[in-house]
Amino acid sequence: MCGIIGAIQQRGEVAPFLHQALKRLEYRGYDSVGVTTIADGKLHMKKEKGKVEEVHRLLDLDDLPGSMGIGHTRWATHGIPSLYNSHPHFDCNSEIAVIHNGVIDNFLELREELASKGHKFDSETDTEVIPHLIEDYMKEGMDLKSALKKTTKRIEGTYAIVVMSTREPDKIVCTRDGNPLVIGYKESASYVSSDIPAFLPMTNDMILLLDGEIATLTVNDIEIEKISDDSRVERESIRISWTADQAQKGGFPHFMLKEIHEQPSAIRSTLKLRSEVIVRAAQILRDANRVFLIAMGTSGHAALAGKHMFASLAGVVGTFELASDFSDTVYGALNENDCVIAITQSGETTDTITAVKYAKQYGSKIVAITNVVGSSITRIADHTIITQAGPEIGVAATKTFIVQLTSLALIALALGELTGFKDPSVIMRKRDSLNRLPELVSEVTAKSEERARSLANIYHTKPSLLFLGRGVSIATAFEGALKLKEIAYNHAEGYSAGESKHGPIALVQDGFPVVIIAPNDETRNRIVGNIMEMKARGADILSVIEDGDSDLASISDHIFEIPKGVEPEFSTIPYVVPLQLFSYYMSLRKGYDPDKPRNLAKSVTVL
Ligand code: G6P
Repeated sequence: MCGIIGAIQQRGEVAPFLHQALKRLEYRGYDSVGVTTIADGKLHMKKEKGKVEEVHRLLDLDDLPGSMGIGHTRWATHGIPSLYNSHPHFDCNSEIAVIHNGVIDNFLELREELASKGHKFDSETDTEVIPHLIEDYMKEGMDLKSALKKTTKRIEGTYAIVVMSTREPDKIVCTRDGNPLVIGYKESASYVSSDIPAFLPMTNDMILLLDGEIATLTVNDIEIEKISDDSRVERESIRISWTADQAQKGGFPHFMLKEIHEQPSAIRSTLKLRSEVIVRAAQILRDANRVFLIAMGTSGHAALAGKHMFASLAGVVGTFELASDFSDTVYGALNENDCVIAITQSGETTDTITAVKYAKQYGSKIVAITNVVGSSITRIADHTIITQAGPEIGVAATKTFIVQLTSLALIALALGELTGFKDPSVIMRKRDSLNRLPELVSEVTAKSEERARSLANIYHTKPSLLFLGRGVSIATAFEGALKLKEIAYNHAEGYSAGESKHGPIALVQDGFPVVIIAPNDETRNRIVGNIMEMKARGADILSVIEDGDSDLASISDHIFEIPKGVEPEFSTIPYVVPLQLFSYYMSLRKGYDPDKPRNLAKSVTVL
C-alpha cells in the first residue's frame, strides 16, 4: 500500500524524477514521504510526515544531488506517521539506505539481537532492522547483494525491499516476497517501483521480479537471481500498453471523474478480449464441481454480481466469499474439482492472494480476473483474464469495477453456451445487449452527471443513507454504499431490499434517505413494496430506474434514469454509474478530495 520508487540514470540529477514519481504513487495511500540519493560517496536524505507537495514545500525534494536514488510514500503500520518512522531507514553509519513495503513479523526479536550488539535504532518501524542486518553482513565482508540475500533468510513476513549503499554507489538492489515490485528499463536508465505508473513517463518496458528473486540494477543492466540457489534468471521483458497520459488527469479535476468517463472505452476494450481466453475460463468453470467467487471491496461486489450472471445465464450456482474469510469459511473442505475465481483489480491484495494460495494447496483450479499484467495473482492462477481498464489512479475503484463486471458477463455468456442452460438465441440477445453497453454507459454518464451534482446539494447534509436492491442489484446497492462511505465519509449501508424490513427499517424516519436500485427486471414489482414500506415511515426515496418507468418515478422523491435495453444480468454496469457520480459530487460538496480518501489505500498488501 505504500509506494516505492528507485532510479539510476546515466547523468543528471535524479531527485526531480523521484519527486514526480512519488506524486504518481500518491494514489496508493500514504502519510509520509522520504527520498535518498547518493552523491560524492555520501547518502543525502529528506523525509517528513505529510503529503508529497507539503513535504516538498518544506524541504525542496528536487534539491538532492546525484543520479541515483530511492523514494517512498509510507502508509503507517508499525509506528505512527512521523519523520522518524518515514522511510528510507539507515544503518548505524548512514551508508545503507532501505525502503520496504510489507510487514516483518519477527522484527522485535531481530531488533533485540541487533541492539544487544550495539546497533542504534531511530524509529519504531519493523523496517529498520533491515539496514542494520545488512550492515552486519557487509561488515563480515559480504557485498550488498549477498548481504541482502542473507537478510531475507533472517526476516519473516512479507516484503518488497529496495536498498542502496555508498559502498557500492553504482547499483540499487531489490527483492520481494509477497509485495509487488516491477522493474523498468530503457537505454542508460533503470527503475524499480511498487507500481507501473511511477515510471511510465520514462519507459513502457518492464521486467517482472518474482517472489524469492533479487535484482541488481545498474545504469545499463538488470541482473536477476533466485535467492534459494543463486541461479541466474533470464526473463523476457514485457511492453506495457498503458500510456503516461492515461495516468494523468487529462483536463478533469480528479482522476475519479476522469476514470468514470473512461468507463465506456474500458468496456469496449474489455469486450475485445480474445475469445479463447474467455472460453478457457468458462471451460474450467464448467468442469468444476463447485465454483467459489472470492474478492475484497469493490471487487467483491463484482464477484457477487458475477454469481448472479453465472446462475442466470449458465445455471451454474457459485458461492461468493470474502477472500479475507475464505479459509475460515470453507475449513479445508476444498478439492481439485473446485474452482476459485479470484477478482482483484490490483492483483496484489494480500487477502485475495492468501485465499488463492490456500485453495491451491487443495488442488482447486484458480481463475483470476485482474487489471494488472504480471501482478502476483497472475503467477498463481491457472488461468488469468486481464481486464482492459488501463491504469486506475483514483483509490475508489470505478472503471476497474466496470471491466470486472464486463469480463464476468463474457465468461457467463461463454459458460451459458457450454452448459446450454439458456436457449442459444437468448444468449445471442444477451450478448448483443452487452455489446451495446459502451454507448449506453456513455449516455448514462452524460445524463446523470448534472443530476448527481444537484442531488449532492440536497443530500450532503444527510449523515446516513441506506442503499437497497434485489437480486443482482444487491451488488449495485453494496457498491453504491461503499463508494459513498469511501470518499464522502457518510455512513452508508448496502442491503438486500428483502432483508431491509428485518432491521434497517428501524432507522427510517422523516427524511431518512433510501437509495433504491430498481431496474426493470423480475424484482421490480417486489421492490415497489419495499419503497412503499420505507415511504410509510417517512423515507426520502432516491431511485435508479429504467427510463420511462413512471410508476417508480411517481413514488420516488428523486430519480436517476437508465435507458431501456439493459439485460437484467448486466444491470449493475449502467446502474452503478449514477451512484459513482453521486458519491463523487457528495465528496466534493463536503469539501473532500475524492482521489485520496483518508485511511484507504489502492492496493492493500497487509492481512
Ligand atoms: C482496497 C481498495 C478498494 C478495492 C479493494 C480490493 O480496499 O481501496 O478500492 O476494492 O482494496 O482491491 P483489489 O485490488 O483486490 O481489487
